[in-house]
Amino acid sequence: MAGLFTNITIKDMDLKNRIVMAPMCMYSSDENGYANEWHYIHYATRAIGGVGLILLEAVSIEKRGRISNRDLGIWDDSHIEGLAKIVDRCKEYGAKVGVQLGHAGRKSETEPSQIIAPSPIAFNDEYPTPNEMDEEDIADVIRAFRDGAERAYRAGFDVIEIHGAHGYLINQFLSPLTNTREDGYGGSLENRTRFLIEIIREVRTVWPHDKPLIIRVSAEDYVDNGQHPEDLVEILNLVKDEGVDIINVSSGAVVPVKIRPYPGYQINFANTIREGVGLPVIGGGLIKEAEMAEEIICNGRADMIFLGRELLRNPYWPLKAAHELGYDIAWPEPYERGRI
Ligand SMILES: Cc1cc2nc3c(=O)[nH]c(=O)nc-3n(C[C@H](O)[C@H](O)[C@H](O)COP(=O)(O)O)c2cc1C
Repeated sequence: MAGLFTNITIKDMDLKNRIVMAPMCMYSSDENGYANEWHYIHYATRAIGGVGLILLEAVSIEKRGRISNRDLGIWDDSHIEGLAKIVDRCKEYGAKVGVQLGHAGRKSETEPSQIIAPSPIAFNDEYPTPNEMDEEDIADVIRAFRDGAERAYRAGFDVIEIHGAHGYLINQFLSPLTNTREDGYGGSLENRTRFLIEIIREVRTVWPHDKPLIIRVSAEDYVDNGQHPEDLVEILNLVKDEGVDIINVSSGAVVPVKIRPYPGYQINFANTIREGVGLPVIGGGLIKEAEMAEEIICNGRADMIFLGRELLRNPYWPLKAAHELGYDIAWPEPYERGRI
């Protein structure tokens, strides 16, 4: 039976445990999207702490696709060197490492702004109305995802994650709340999924088939006329044969709705997607306790657990969790005298 500290192999990536660091924007880059000392230390620390898979924050594939002016970038070859440095450090300390390729679309807060989206609908009163993307814009963004994936390969990442969640550009195409197009990219669920399918197809021309690819989705919009886990199952069944290996299940942020999260609030969504799509899933959300993570894995409700804020508070969470659950794992040698 699998547990939190049993390994898992997906394509050519072998993880020593099921703990995944959730992608978390640090907004700590410069205006040009380069990695710096903050990123090297921040990510390497979680590798020393025993995380199995570190997913870097949303890294922008286009300058106009940044969430903020301080996002990391992957839109230029000059970004590869800094990203490769993060990769090397994480690997040196025993973690596998992935990067989340993102485009903010209408939720870009960059200055000066030139935001684009499937339809000219603003997120709320504080955001400008985006320009509706024409076919050329769509082709440009698809190409930029491919180029980002190619740079990720050159930087040495073990896995890439396409950011299809939280109301950013891909999610804006997927959701009927944000996509009111009347061409081949809007209307039916199949049409709304087309943008994502074309991105994955292009990405797979440069991202080798023996390397895993993750998609992160928002499985629940928290409004009646929005999407629910069953809709995402349908969408993911349309895309999975394009070369998708893992689904990272999150929720919300497509439209401004306040939700009340509780520990494990997204695990049922992850389980629905796991059963309906038949691919390994990463589940999580407000998980703090080792026992809860162990329960989810042992009962087969998710295949891996992501931790976000808990790993900001405690980068050594895996070392403590292994002790609490009675697993005998290797500690970093210089820390042996601190072993619990
Ligand atoms: C500081 C911060 C930045 C985040 N940035 C991203 C991001 O870049 N991409 C993403 O998909 N989710 C992002 N998230 C969401 C997390 O990946 C995660 O889904 C969320 O925090 C819930 O997990 P948790 O309760 O374990 O923190 C961010 C969350 C936080 C707290």
